[in-house]
Amino acid sequence: MTDAAAAPAITTSRRVLLKLSGEALMGEHEYGIDPGVVREIAMQVADAAGDGIQIAVVVGGGNIFRGLAASARGMDRATGDYMGMLATVMNGLALQDALEQADCPTRVMSAIAMNEICEPYIRRRAERHLEKGRVVVMVAGTGNPYFTTDTAATLRAVEIHAGVILKATRVDGVYDADPEKEPNARRYSKIGYTELLSNRLQALDATAVSLAMDNEMPIVVFDMTQPGNIARAIRGVRIGTLISGDRTDDA
Ligand code: GTP
Repeated sequence: MTDAAAAPAITTSRRVLLKLSGEALMGEHEYGIDPGVVREIAMQVADAAGDGIQIAVVVGGGNIFRGLAASARGMDRATGDYMGMLATVMNGLALQDALEQADCPTRVMSAIAMNEICEPYIRRRAERHLEKGRVVVMVAGTGNPYFTTDTAATLRAVEIHAGVILKATRVDGVYDADPEKEPNARRYSKIGYTELLSNRLQALDATAVSLAMDNEMPIVVFDMTQPGNIARAIRGVRIGTLISGDRTDDA
């Protein structure tokens, strides 16, 4: 396994898109937002932003509401997904609050207009905010049901010409089997888009991977529960698994 501190940089990109799952914000709890965890994430993002790296954040909502799970219990899928999008707005506001308490100017932009609460997502304006050193937290997914926040993250990364998507999760990369069920599962340091898709590995949904592949957008999947890993990933330290058009390394 790679020594994160000594490893070469994955990218020298000065603009990155950080994807945070909603679950990332709940810490050890089963539901909701853990202020301590949000503060810790914000400190790392603010720290890296202080280096002049432009950071957009797409945040999920699964800590509050999961559209897919609700639809499995009989709710209309689109309605469930809209409720999930509203959950991402709450998470985005919590992140903005924590980032600004860490002296990091932040703008929240929503794919669904709610002007009393935050700005509408306008691509060119988002880019201006980034150029001015503001962290931009993008909420409400793509604004459409049936699309995951991973797909929203990929879409936004492509739109704003980010150099890489950094997908912060609770596992330290992409494995050839579910590491929680298969003790012998092996982690890839690098995997191609097509292999990820053809092996139906569950790291990201197929729509997100296809969009990334069509637009040659690299994705790094890394473990955000390790202290300092978010700042490390933003700075381009090679951790986790890199998903790209390159050949797959042995797991
Ligand atoms: P500049 O144009 O670079 O000065 O950007 P700015 O974001 O500092 O200025 P602006 O006047 O656009 O926004 C000032 C504050 O109002 C910021 O905190 C924005 O996030 C917020 N803001 C701007 N537009 C909206 C909106 O449509 N709705 C809400 N709720 N807030 C907004």
